[in-house]
Amino acid sequence: MPAATDDPITGRVALVTGASSGIGAASAVALAATGARVGICARRADRLQEVVDRCHEHAADVAMFTVDLADLDRLPDFARQVEADLGAVDVLVNNVGVPKRRRMQDITPSEIDDVMRINFMSPVVLTTELLPGMLDRGWGRIVNVSSMGTRSAAVRVGAYAASKAALEAWTEGLMLDLLGTGVMAQLLVPGTTKTEFALPRGTDDEPFPPDSNALEPEVVADALVALLRSTDFEGFASDDHAALSAQKRSDPNAFLAMVRDVLGPSTTDK
Ligand SMILES: NC(=O)c1ccc[n+]([C@@H]2O[C@H](COP(=O)([O-])OP(=O)(O)OC[C@H]3O[C@@H](n4cnc5c(N)ncnc54)[C@H](OP(=O)(O)O)[C@@H]3O)[C@@H](O)[C@H]2O)c1
Repeated sequence: MPAATDDPITGRVALVTGASSGIGAASAVALAATGARVGICARRADRLQEVVDRCHEHAADVAMFTVDLADLDRLPDFARQVEADLGAVDVLVNNVGVPKRRRMQDITPSEIDDVMRINFMSPVVLTTELLPGMLDRGWGRIVNVSSMGTRSAAVRVGAYAASKAALEAWTEGLMLDLLGTGVMAQLLVPGTTKTEFALPRGTDDEPFPPDSNALEPEVVADALVALLRSTDFEGFASDDHAALSAQKRSDPNAFLAMVRDVLGPSTTDK
């Protein structure tokens, strides 16, 4: 069904993954407020219902789906369920993500596999399921949510940053291979945001350090809306993040030498 306007959001069907809290919840509400028909998914039904209620304040057409996105075999059926309940998905926001804050010498391959499955493979599988419909209709947007963890210093979050780096490279390939199809892939690159992301999960994860510059999730959601309304490949939620990303890319050796100086020999030598 054609969208009501040429706007990439108004009248479109948007599916946001990991939308029971944080950036995903704020993004769902922002998309609803901008006139999208919104599908949200995560595992916690009670928290999804709260987000549905917030979306309804904007009189939005919204549907919630409880799904464990780590169960990759379930995702084809999940995609069909979304299309049946909500309609063909025009905008897919692959927001789901989990941290795994641990030293590289302590993390196990199995734990890294878990992080890769949720942060990288679930966006890949869901995109693979929904992309053919977008191509048939000649229009679609896929926004993958990465992290400044790939653009700053991956201290204690090497596995997480690796999953997001894979997502970034895959999104770039997708964007380039989709040129001329009407479907576009984009990257949103948030920095530290005030969500449940930093809460301790399991006894062996180290706590996240406090960050006085942490953004509100609504600021990141506004950046998502702005990115969708642009033809840019990547978008940031603050100018500082864009500048930091450019600084590291321009001279990774100098950037990481600076980080090592800040961390100090007690950290780098052990
Ligand atoms: N917060 C930050 O500082 C920050 C910085 C940079 C990038 N990011 C990125 O932003 C995205 C959103 O993170 P957030 O900060 O909003 O964190 P959050 O509040 O912890 O939200 C994570 C969302 O993912 C869902 N989720 C986790 N595992 C899932 C699974 N197996 N199946 C289905 N849903 C699952 C959670 O819902 P359920 O538990 O209900 O399933 C929740 O809705 C992530 O990709 C993250 O990497 C965050």
